[in-house]
Amino acid sequence: MYVCICKAVTDRVVDQAIEAGAASVGAVGEATGAGTDCGCCQNAIARRLARAAGGCGGACSTCPAQNGAAQAGATG
Ligand code: FES
Repeated sequence: MYVCICKAVTDRVVDQAIEAGAASVGAVGEATGAGTDCGCCQNAIARRLARAAGGCGGACSTCPAQNGAAQAGATG
């Protein structure tokens, strides 16, 4: 699947760049070109970086991973 249409960069290529050490959207862009044209894909790249770091990449306000143990049992 393409993550970056402008530069024709796939999710696999982005993930390989992350696995190789790219730790920011800019670093992924330097390695692959993704995100360096219109920028529309930069949030998708950021989510892949977050997932690679152990998060889900989302921004859910009830996410225990983002809000600490106090909300670990929260639902919804
Ligand atoms: S879609 Fe990635 S820079 Fe435009």
